[in-house]
Amino acid sequence: MKFQFIIVLSLATLLMSCAPKEKSKSIEMTDSASYTELYRPQFHFSPPINWINDPNGLVYHQGEYHLFYQYNPYGTTWGHMSWGHAVSKDLLHWENLPLAIAEYQDGVTGDSTMIFSGTAVVDKTNSSGLGKDCLVAIFTSNVHKGNQGLRQHQSLAYSNDRGRSWKLYDKNPILDIQRKDFRDPKVFWYEPDQKWVMALVVPDLFKVQVYQSRNLLNWNLMSEFGQVGDTTRVWECPDLYPLPVENEEGKSKWVLSLSGGHPAGPTFVGMQYFVGDFDGTNFTSAQTKAKYIDYGKDFYAGIVYNNIPAEDGRAIMIGWINNWTYANLIPTDPWRGAMSVPRQLTLKKSEESYQLVQRTVDEAKSLRDMEITNLEEYHKGSLEIDLEWNGSAGAILELFANGEEKTVIGQTREGSIYLDRRQSGIIDFQSDFASIDQVPVKKGSVNLHIFVDQSIVEVFINDGEASITSQVFPRGENKINIPLKENIVQLKAWELKSIWK
Ligand code: FRU
Repeated sequence: MKFQFIIVLSLATLLMSCAPKEKSKSIEMTDSASYTELYRPQFHFSPPINWINDPNGLVYHQGEYHLFYQYNPYGTTWGHMSWGHAVSKDLLHWENLPLAIAEYQDGVTGDSTMIFSGTAVVDKTNSSGLGKDCLVAIFTSNVHKGNQGLRQHQSLAYSNDRGRSWKLYDKNPILDIQRKDFRDPKVFWYEPDQKWVMALVVPDLFKVQVYQSRNLLNWNLMSEFGQVGDTTRVWECPDLYPLPVENEEGKSKWVLSLSGGHPAGPTFVGMQYFVGDFDGTNFTSAQTKAKYIDYGKDFYAGIVYNNIPAEDGRAIMIGWINNWTYANLIPTDPWRGAMSVPRQLTLKKSEESYQLVQRTVDEAKSLRDMEITNLEEYHKGSLEIDLEWNGSAGAILELFANGEEKTVIGQTREGSIYLDRRQSGIIDFQSDFASIDQVPVKKGSVNLHIFVDQSIVEVFINDGEASITSQVFPRGENKINIPLKENIVQLKAWELKSIWK
């Protein structure tokens, strides 16, 4: 497939006039976007070319799920951060759109400003005066000189044409506390008080600040939450949302999730969450210890969709499949980085606490193609495996097996489920990549729901009670071994269709 992807720097004349010369023209990206390259995910979103990190501005609007994302229009490593853009009608098949919001150079100071992570909302009542039903993006302006970060404050851009073109608000910034690090606003509509709420982080103080606004333009600080949980790495990308408790009829609790420390320690970054209550002003939680969202190395900066219709009501999260520890070095080209399959979030009450439950959205079932009868004969493509394991210690599946090379999913003697990528293929691009991840599970048989996609493995354990998301870069074929068949109670597998064909 010959793919044409054209980036038009769509920020009005204002930006055009102050952008550096080589960046003020349209950039045509016509090469290599076949989506057939080695390691190219077939059912996970990745951009045609170049670097991506965090999902941004996840919002449903007029029949479309928007996926904005941290994007470098000029290369395959982090830099020139701007908002890339794709839309989908089913959360699976994505249409790539031109760059939404580009970095710009301040006309007065000459300082360069990158468009960091943020949020998008639908202003149904025209509370901002920027247009009824307009899409409003609130993001962090990262002001810097060269690689030196100077200041971060919150800015606004809006679109009156379903996100196809964006204008910067002319009175930016809308929130500035004169700090070098202050970022990643998540804004949502709080129905009981008919107001907007923003959660964002003071990263180096491990604090989430919560603000309120009537019009999206003026914000007042209401409360702070933080200095609990995992403070081994700076806090980023917070989100605050209610989730239904599956096993308590009619009950819901609020969750505050954020990106920061990892269960395997400070060498890596990961996501943690707190379960509690939000009364419109304060988020409170009895929890002081971190709970982690994913036990793999490659799930970060996840946020949930805004404006999902009430009759649907799902909390749907997308995360970035990568880890800052090696993100700029993974061996993919001409793109670098991908997004998770969207996950539906709920809670389950166990004796001591509330546990996050994650399942790939139901829509993903439509990707199932042929059912695979003998998994060990399967040699190519992307697939979904649903199996029940009897709870013994040992290797359950060897994925991407080829001679000595394999990615092993198994269970330890202590009862944890693990993913071992120490011999998974190309591992030497960074010394910490070759690693093993594990998560304790309850005694007895274990259900594993596994998605395998060229260079991404997402494992959901016991109907979503835990997950392990990992990248691997195998040199061989997608050969699968099942070393201990006698311990597999049940197994079903499907070949999955590509979303790009
Ligand atoms: C998280 C993050 C955010 C920031 C963005 C910059 O991965 O560091 O805190 O806004 O990436 O690209």
